[in-house]
Amino acid sequence: MNAIEIKQLEKIYTEGKKALDDISLVVPEGTIFGFLGPNGAGKTTTVKLLNGILNPTGGEIRVLGLDPVNQAEKLHQSTGVLTEHAGMYDQLTGIGNLRFFGQLFGMTKAESETRGMELLEKLGLSEAAEVKLKSYSTGMRQRLSLARTLIHRPRVLFLDEPTSGLDPESTKSVNELLLELSKKEGTTVFLCTHQLRYAQEICDEYGLMDNGQLLALGSLEYLRQQTFSHYKLLVETDVMPQMLNSKKNGENTYELAFQEKAEVPQIVKAIVQQGGNISQVTPLDYSLEDIYFALLEGGKMHV
Ligand SMILES: Nc1ncnc2c1ncn2[C@@H]1O[C@H](COP(=O)(O)OP(=O)(O)O)[C@@H](O)[C@H]1O
Ligand SMILES: [Mg+2]
Repeated sequence: MNAIEIKQLEKIYTEGKKALDDISLVVPEGTIFGFLGPNGAGKTTTVKLLNGILNPTGGEIRVLGLDPVNQAEKLHQSTGVLTEHAGMYDQLTGIGNLRFFGQLFGMTKAESETRGMELLEKLGLSEAAEVKLKSYSTGMRQRLSLARTLIHRPRVLFLDEPTSGLDPESTKSVNELLLELSKKEGTTVFLCTHQLRYAQEICDEYGLMDNGQLLALGSLEYLRQQTFSHYKLLVETDVMPQMLNSKKNGENTYELAFQEKAEVPQIVKAIVQQGGNISQVTPLDYSLEDIYFALLEGGKMHV
């Protein structure tokens, strides 16, 4: 089942600004979907539309088969949203906040306590459970916001720039939790970020946005194939067979182009069979960042 379905979505703000132009995509359940793009691309607008906070001016949206505007109440039982400004109570402790929000979702005090403590532990906040929120650092607040968003075990989680301002340690615990939720509980994550390196660590699929348009859609492997026609391999060896069509990069260093990863062992075998002593083989993968900038320069891919 698709957790999210967006068809020819358009949003024109009342001032006339077209923030989204003909966006179509689906996110299968259990996927971590990276919705990427620079500031102003239309990411937050999309999250607001998916949560029924805004009305589309064109097209259709379904989240878990529901219409976010007309079935908001039902939908919000199964979704969680983390935006940049999540409201919580400074005078309550970490676990106190989680109990409060759990009970708002109809959980019992005991249920929200158990689930809350479990989340605090996974996010490295166990020791701060009984500390009032007002003493939390920014990174701790952000992690607690995520716990708050997850308290009622949502099936779909919307994260709008969740790691902006997080230290590497916090980012790591957030990532581990998101991966665990997606793999073990089948939670769908719709992650908006402009931090491409961060996204590449956890996402299965990507949508690349720019200026209200969807430039490309798919897995990293798919996007790489669509953007670049080959991979590169850097090989350090004393002998390089001519038939491999390499480019000499330096003394005993050669660059080879290839189409599929399965060719790498064949290349290595061919060199060894010709008596080559290989000291290093380094695949030069194109990163999400490489792809993104190539797409921004080259324009829209057919999506
Ligand atoms: N309430 C609003 N009224 C008018 N224009 C808006 C409003 N919110 C956002 N925009 C404009 O819509 C575009 C997309 O914004 P946004 O969805 O916030 O992008 P992102 O989250 O990717 O940075 C931007 O040009 C922004 O200025
Ligand atoms: Mg935004």
